[in-house]
Amino acid sequence: MAARGAQQFVPESGDLTTLADAARGCRGCELYRDAEQTVFGAGPASARLMLVGEQPGDQEDRAGQPFVGPAGRLLDKALLAAEVNREEVYVTNAVKHFKFKRAAGSKRRIHQTPSRTEVVACRPWLFAELTAVEPEVVVLLGATAAKALLGNDFRLTAHRGEVLRLPENTPALATPHPSSVLRGPADRRDAAFEALVSDLRLASGLL
Ligand code: URA
Ligand code: SF4
Repeated sequence: MAARGAQQFVPESGDLTTLADAARGCRGCELYRDAEQTVFGAGPASARLMLVGEQPGDQEDRAGQPFVGPAGRLLDKALLAAEVNREEVYVTNAVKHFKFKRAAGSKRRIHQTPSRTEVVACRPWLFAELTAVEPEVVVLLGATAAKALLGNDFRLTAHRGEVLRLPENTPALATPHPSSVLRGPADRRDAAFEALVSDLRLASGLL
């Protein structure tokens, strides 16, 4: 099946539970085939702050919850440092299925960045979450999330930490992805972590 996108699977109206249920059966692109399950966003519908990552990782794919693996632990540390309570935040991803490849002769599943086509295919779910939650501020974790909502030409390095606007006018900040903080060069890790914390603090200050 060609990637026709998620739109045909998105209910016309519905709360987050209805959306999450429907997303379990999404076949909007090929990524559902090899992943364990759809990892929908998590958090209260009343959340004033929404965080958008890239896509679930290995552990999120097994658990069915966003940001519960190593990147999630780093994010938790950053939220704590920024004095933001994760339980009050809605956390989701630009793409709802884990994209990976297997290293030859190994069971290990290696993350692959989703293609633009996959990001666009999955975006109706993200739009539906934005409509259901109506966050006051959105934090875009990494380039994939930022490009999903601000356009493919968006450059994170040029605009990180600026208060931007989503097309429907919601304030948004683009910041380093927790995985890039973890995987980045050791001498830049502290600075990247501080950038993430200061952007989360700035975002929560806009509420
Ligand atoms: N990285 C992401 O972008 N999202 C997750 O849920 C986990 C890791
Ligand atoms: Fe549907 Fe998104 Fe999964 Fe593709 S990645 S099958 S569009 S939920």
